[in-house]
Amino acid sequence: MCGIVGYCGYRSAAEVLLSGLKRLEYRGYDSAGIGLGDGKSLDVYKTKGKIKDLREHVPQEASGIIGIGHTRWATHGGVTDINAHPHMDTDKKIAVVHNGIIENYMPLKEMLIGEGYKFISETDSEVLIHLISKFYTGDLEKAVKEALMLVKGTYGIIAFHKDNPDQLVGARNGSPLVLGIGEDEMFLASDVSALVAYTKRVVYFEDHEVVTISKTDYSTSNIDNEAINKEVENISWELEEMEKGGYDFFMLKEIHEQSQSVPRAYQGRIDEEMATAKLGGLNMTSRELLDVERVKIVAAGTSYHAGLVAALQMESMARIPCSVELASEFRYRNPVVEKNTLYFALSQSGETIDTLYAMREIQRKGGRCLGVCNVVGSTIPRESDGGVYLHSGPEIAVASTKAFTSQITALYLFTLNMARMRDLSTEGGLRFIKALKELPIQLEKALGDSEHIQALAKKYAKYPHFLFLGRGINYPVALEGALKLKEVSYIHAEGYSAAEIKHGPIALINEETPSLFLVADDHLKEKVISNMKEIKARDGMVIAVAVEGDKEVAGIADDVIYVPRVDPAFNPFVMSIPLQLFSYYCAIELGRDVDQPRNLAKSVTVE
Ligand code: AGP
Repeated sequence: MCGIVGYCGYRSAAEVLLSGLKRLEYRGYDSAGIGLGDGKSLDVYKTKGKIKDLREHVPQEASGIIGIGHTRWATHGGVTDINAHPHMDTDKKIAVVHNGIIENYMPLKEMLIGEGYKFISETDSEVLIHLISKFYTGDLEKAVKEALMLVKGTYGIIAFHKDNPDQLVGARNGSPLVLGIGEDEMFLASDVSALVAYTKRVVYFEDHEVVTISKTDYSTSNIDNEAINKEVENISWELEEMEKGGYDFFMLKEIHEQSQSVPRAYQGRIDEEMATAKLGGLNMTSRELLDVERVKIVAAGTSYHAGLVAALQMESMARIPCSVELASEFRYRNPVVEKNTLYFALSQSGETIDTLYAMREIQRKGGRCLGVCNVVGSTIPRESDGGVYLHSGPEIAVASTKAFTSQITALYLFTLNMARMRDLSTEGGLRFIKALKELPIQLEKALGDSEHIQALAKKYAKYPHFLFLGRGINYPVALEGALKLKEVSYIHAEGYSAAEIKHGPIALINEETPSLFLVADDHLKEKVISNMKEIKARDGMVIAVAVEGDKEVAGIADDVIYVPRVDPAFNPFVMSIPLQLFSYYCAIELGRDVDQPRNLAKSVTVE
């Protein structure tokens, strides 16, 4: 998704912007640009490609104490230099960058063309600069507000005027915007990763809010021109968490971090004495929690799969009906929002627009929606009725890995709390807590099999199709494994319930389509074994992820990846590790852009 950065201060604006955009690369993009000002000139440099290509376009002597930058993930208009941002008005006096979609850009464009404005790009965003120019009579903030009054859609924008090298105007609706407060310098960006190198003092903005900054001050108001007060917050994590830490790719680093990120999700949240969990951020009394008769989760992608795992455990352990819906479908089906149903919006980035709007739909209909997110200060946790942060640390790779296991952890804690308020005994609660606390060691053991998994990736990466098959609580893990392989290696992969293959997918079995089975030592094991044999009987290749010491599986599968034996509720954790590593190493084998796979974005802020 697009990234935006703005700077005014004493440093070289070009360097601050380029390094800021570099830290936003993980969001996914296909072109980039910066605009620089020094009070005399306004220079824009932009190109399709990556930040390194943009750097080649920016002259060494590029001056500028103010500027804006943009990484573009194309929505309207091809990947071309002209369509890259910043966009300038015809007189080249104002520049703007935009993250989001202007849904009514066509009628606005027709109106502006009718008034003589000349468009040069194919983008929706270009209407913004001509609207701002149309309303500009010397007050940029005023012109921005008047322009945005006409806009329908989502935006995170930053604009500046050539004649004022000490003023940036930013505004948001649906796309994130954050202010960084420095000493004699100020920053604006899509997320804190672009500014954390310079300051940890930040201000997060809500929809329809506007901020005007100079290098020493800032003012905040809403689109209706009413002044508003905003709280200054402090970023809790360090810059080095944004670095690869010696790994070749962020994805590998984040896979290996899970033996630390999972405990970070439960630390301080377990009450051993009462054999339960305590989640302060729910903003719900015990009585309100006791009134909950049903739980519904809305999410997208990997978060959706994490929700599916948690929902099965919640229903089984807390005896609360729990279902999960794709946020994008939920939002538009005119859902019934019920009184005693508690909703969760599950989102690593906290910015996924499908999930954000699903939450807003729930709240509009009077439902209570909690957020389970990783990025502190992102939109979903700021607008939710409460919730739980994952504390995973920044997840940079587009392919979500540590967030997946941390989301399940957070929802397992909620499940434990609800179960202990209902039928789960103290002994049951303590058993669950013990199994949870043993996870970090089990995850480390699963991660220790990397070399073997890398060898399997070398063997199987040449196949064009894969089936991922699991049952029960491991069925969503099969879905997640298929998504991982698809998104980082570009190999076609489908996740299915192992029982389901005989209802159609088994027709796909041939010498080009390996099947990867998750064989847990739970109540469904024998069923999964039968499903494996159905594949083998048709000369299908089978890779099995099985529990250490399981000789039966070894006698059936072509290759076996063993994982530590854990309480069945925790198989999704240890079985995810080999699937994540397998996808990673297949992507490496195929020479893919592992951290930023083609066409993908880390935070999908457009529908
Ligand atoms: C997962 O690897 C993908 N990057 C994608 O499916 C992602 O999970 C989805 O876009 C949801 O993102 P969120 O958790 O930030 O809402």
